Amino acid sequence: MKLQDKVAIVTGAASGMGKAIAKIYAREGAKVIVADLNLDGAEEVVKGITENGGVAKAVQVNVAKQEDIDNMIDIAVAEFGTLDILVNNAGIMDGFEPVGDILDERWDMIFDVNTKGVMRAMRKALPIFLEKGKGNIINTASTGGLNGAHAGATYGASKHAVIGLTKNTGFMYAQKGIRCNAIAPGAVETNISASMKNVNPFGMERTKVVQGVIPRIGQPEEIAQVALFLASDESSFVNGTVITADGGWTAAF
Ligand SMILES: NC(=O)c1ccc[n+]([C@@H]2O[C@H](COP(=O)([O-])OP(=O)(O)OC[C@H]3O[C@@H](n4cnc5c(N)ncnc54)[C@H](O)[C@@H]3O)[C@@H](O)[C@H]2O)c1
Repeated sequence: MKLQDKVAIVTGAASGMGKAIAKIYAREGAKVIVADLNLDGAEEVVKGITENGGVAKAVQVNVAKQEDIDNMIDIAVAEFGTLDILVNNAGIMDGFEPVGDILDERWDMIFDVNTKGVMRAMRKALPIFLEKGKGNIINTASTGGLNGAHAGATYGASKHAVIGLTKNTGFMYAQKGIRCNAIAPGAVETNISASMKNVNPFGMERTKVVQGVIPRIGQPEEIAQVALFLASDESSFVNGTVITADGGWTAAF
């Protein structure tokens, strides 16, 4: 097993990619904190893991709240003794708004969840990793964090920021035994469209040309395999970088 006795936190783990990551980590021997805003969904995932002989605990977290993040990491340590792997995966979409149509409240909410939540969880986990002399951070970014028109301006900016944060962190702590990488998924079949409220017709229309060259939609399990690679020692020399998993979509650009 690739993650025997490791303790992992996966945020946004009640659905989509986070759920697939939590399941594969547990199957590979990790004890997993299944963290999500949706507690019922998180508990359902834990039920599935424990029925298959794995170890997991559900924690309700709003990653936009500092106290929830602190609580999530404190619970991992109290319950399982330490923290080895932090997967910052929770995220929400915008409504494909171009900059001219951005509303401050929506910008703030998306950055609080997609970007500030990632920073805060990393900041809280770092003292644990520094004390151990090892730790592993995996952030779910997006191909929208590498390119200009995979969603609206806010989502794209929030994910570009996650990539910048990932690279800086990977370099800063490279000699402290801590690795930090991001995954840039392309289009994946999940429930993320539920967070797409008040879709902007102009923005949506402009991104259609880009979506027109998507070779195929991926499955959450295909992203979970990348997250497993990054969490395991097989990727020991991979640090401060982004792995794109998009079925060849962005090869078109
Ligand atoms: N689906 C795609 O095509 C795609 C592509 C690129 C990147 N991503 C990114 O992948 C990540 C996972 O998304 P998904 O596609 O699996 O979507 P999903 O909606 O299926 O799952 C996201 C989960 O995050 C949770 N969540 C939302 N806001 C939260 C908050 N404030 N605090 C805690 N949990 C919260 C939701 O309850 C949900 O369970 C996101 O960061 C998303 O931006 C998705």
